[in-house]
Order: sequence, then structure tokens, then C-alpha cells
Amino acid sequence: MSWTPDSWKSKPLAQEVAYDDPAAVEATIARLSQLPPLVTSWEVERLKMAIAEAQEGRRFILQGGDCAETLGDCQPGIIANKLKILLQMSMVLVHAGQKPVVRIGRLAGQYAKPRSKPTEERNGVSLPSYFGDLVNRPEFTADARRADPRALLDAYSHAALTLNFVRSLTAAGFADLHHPEYWDLGFFTRSGLPPELREEYMQTSARLSEALRFMEALGETSVDELSRVDFYTSHEGLNLHYEAAQTRRVPRREGHYLLTTHMPWIGERTRALDGAHVEFFRGVENVVGVKLGPKVDPHDAVKLLTTLSPWNEAGKLVCITRMGASEVDKALPPLVEAVTRAGRRVLWMCDPMHGNTHSTSSGIKTRSFDDILREIERSFAIHREIAGELGGIHFELTGEDVTECIGGGITEADLDKNYASVCDPRLNYRQALEMAFRIGTWMSKRAPR
Ligand code: PEP
Ligand code: CO
Repeated sequence: MSWTPDSWKSKPLAQEVAYDDPAAVEATIARLSQLPPLVTSWEVERLKMAIAEAQEGRRFILQGGDCAETLGDCQPGIIANKLKILLQMSMVLVHAGQKPVVRIGRLAGQYAKPRSKPTEERNGVSLPSYFGDLVNRPEFTADARRADPRALLDAYSHAALTLNFVRSLTAAGFADLHHPEYWDLGFFTRSGLPPELREEYMQTSARLSEALRFMEALGETSVDELSRVDFYTSHEGLNLHYEAAQTRRVPRREGHYLLTTHMPWIGERTRALDGAHVEFFRGVENVVGVKLGPKVDPHDAVKLLTTLSPWNEAGKLVCITRMGASEVDKALPPLVEAVTRAGRRVLWMCDPMHGNTHSTSSGIKTRSFDDILREIERSFAIHREIAGELGGIHFELTGEDVTECIGGGITEADLDKNYASVCDPRLNYRQALEMAFRIGTWMSKRAPR
């Protein structure tokens, strides 16, 4: 079946954005397609190799960032703190799992959000929902909620600014595993970090630095692999105008590369087999993630994975399951069994966030640390019982001291103290670090077979 970067336009488009000025959309897309890529095919292929190794159990993937990145949060402190928490967590995981960890941010493009309803009502007024800064703005006014094509270019520019800063930091040594102290700024002064957690972190980081130095002294070549910090970007590939505009052929390689990000993923609401999103993503060379929720039919999932990777290419597909703590025992085993039986080559990741969202009695969207942890633990156990190993975790988190999820020092009464997310609740700095230690205990445990 033939494919072009525009063949998705003949398929049903879920979560379609209603732009009121199609000519302005066309003009914006034309401009966007002339601008330089945000990432290169070299990096995309490098990530694919890393994912292929993770599929064989030789690497672990840590993916995380905001639910909805905002243009306003494109600030050095906020970006650096996100990088710091991901680096700190990955260091804990390298230490526990004794294997390289690949870090993938939900960052530099996580600006488009699927919504359960196209409109939002407040006090009898109905306006389009907020679809992320790639489309409109969160304020509840007609002007802010209008889908504005100029936002596509603004988002692209902010993604470029974000990525430029992340690249400079990582290239210049900020992310060197030998120097975890660079990520500590403000660490000791942060309120709410219990002394035991701080102590555990300090010990882990000291032990890791010592082990690295020891391996280097022995002339161990793998130390470079272990200590080099690669950082990749990812976002939900939701707005196909944006994604298609930056999808192109590159010299000396086959196929088309989507160059807004290293790893796009298809969301739970847009993964219909005959839909526009699957049509688009089956044609790009990138690693592609697919979110799979508790209602997924295992046979449909196998068909979907076959459509997205007909040649069963190594490193190509990542299944990001988001079942929820109460459904994971029922929904995950038949899915993993069907995909394994069909011989589909995928990396299994757990997103313990999106199946565990609930509202408090006062209507605040939250998630509990315990539910999140339970889904992770059950996912580790289920994969081990069936055949394999969980290969990575996908979090919504931030390096800031927000109060959005319950647990790890935050109670329901604390939620409104610093609830800053414009979409789903994220783990804060302490909750995220604590989570890394809990995952670490699973990574260091041998499979009970
Ligand atoms: C998300 O990752 O923010 C999201 C909307 O997830 P899902 O598609 O799994 O609901
Ligand atoms: Co979310």
C-alpha cells in the first residue's frame, strides 16, 4: 500500500482540530516545512539501536516530562530541573539495574493534547477545549480557545529553544555521570525531601562515581557506554499537520524521517487501525511508541503492531501500556501473551500515570503514588511471569515542587498549594526520586523463574 507524508489526509482523523482559516494553516505548514529539522536521522537511528538493545534486555528506558508542556515554561530553570530529575532518576536506575539507561524527555514538542470532549462548559458558556499550546491557549476566553495556526510555528520555535538548551547542557558536561553533583543545585534546600531519601541518594551517587572510576582504572571499555548520557526527545504525535510538515527524505538513507522529535508516540485515543494517525506513523522511519489502555483487544494490538512495523524491525516499536493499578492484572497478561505469541518485536514500557487518574471530591484531578507504584510493580511481575522483562517506564513528572499527585509527603489537602499543571497531575521532584528507588529494587531483583 502506497504511503506519502500526506496519505493520512484520506483517513478518519480522530481529535481533529477545527481551524477556521484553512489558508492560514496551509501557509504556516508551508513555512514549517522549509525550516530546519529539530532532530536528525542520525540521532533517530541511534535511538533505534538503543531501543533494539533494550528489547534484548541490555538497556532500560526512562521517559518522562510534563503532561502538557507550555510555551511559558520554556525557561532555563524549569528545563534544567526537568533534566536534573531525569538524570538523578536514571543514575539510581543505572546503579540498581547495572545497565545503561536511555533517557527520553516528554519535551521540546509535547504541546498537543487529546481531550475527552471537544468543548468545555463553564457557567453556561461553552468554548472549545484546550488542546495544548500547539493549538490554543488554556484561558477560558473565546480568543484564547480559538485554534490559531500561528501556534504551530510558535511551538516549533519553543521546541527548538528548549532542545538547544538541553543539547548545550548535555554536550558540555552537565549530564556527565561522573559529576552527579552538577544536578544537585538546590537539592539540599528543597523542603520536604526526607533525610533518609537524601541519604540514600547521596550514597547511591557516591557508590556509582566510585564504581565508574574503578572500572576506568581497569581499562574497562564499557564504562563509556554506561556513563555517556544520551538524551532524546519524544511527544505525542497528535497534530499531523505539524508532524507531516517536518517529515522528509534525507540524503543517503531510505524512507521518510519525522524530524520534530526522536520518538513520537500514538496516543490511546488515536490508535484506530484505519485512522489517520496509524496511517501516518506506519510510514516514518522513527521509533514509534503506542499507548495501550485496558480496553485494548490483544488481537487488534497485534494487527496494529504489524501495520506499524510489517517487517518486524528491531528497535522500531515501543508498547507503552497504561492499564491502571486496578486493571493491570486483568488486561496486561493477555496482551503480552498475544504479542509474544505473534512474534512481534516490541519494547514493553509501563506508563503508570494515565490509568490512575481520578478526581477528588472537590473536583481536582490527581493520582496516588501508591497506585502508580502498584501498576509498576505488577507490570514488572507480569512480564517476568510470562516471558520477558519490562524495558522501561514512562512518567509525567517535573523537577519543580508541585502538589499534584497524592503520596510521598502530599495529602489531598495539600493539592491546591502548588497545582501548576495545565493538564494531568505530575510527580514532583521528591515523588519522582522516590519512585526511582522503588523501581530500582525491582531492577536489581532477579526474575523469580
Ligand atoms: C498522555 O500521555 O499525556 C496521554 C494523553 O496519554 P494516553 O494517550 O495514554 O491517554
Ligand atoms: Co497526560
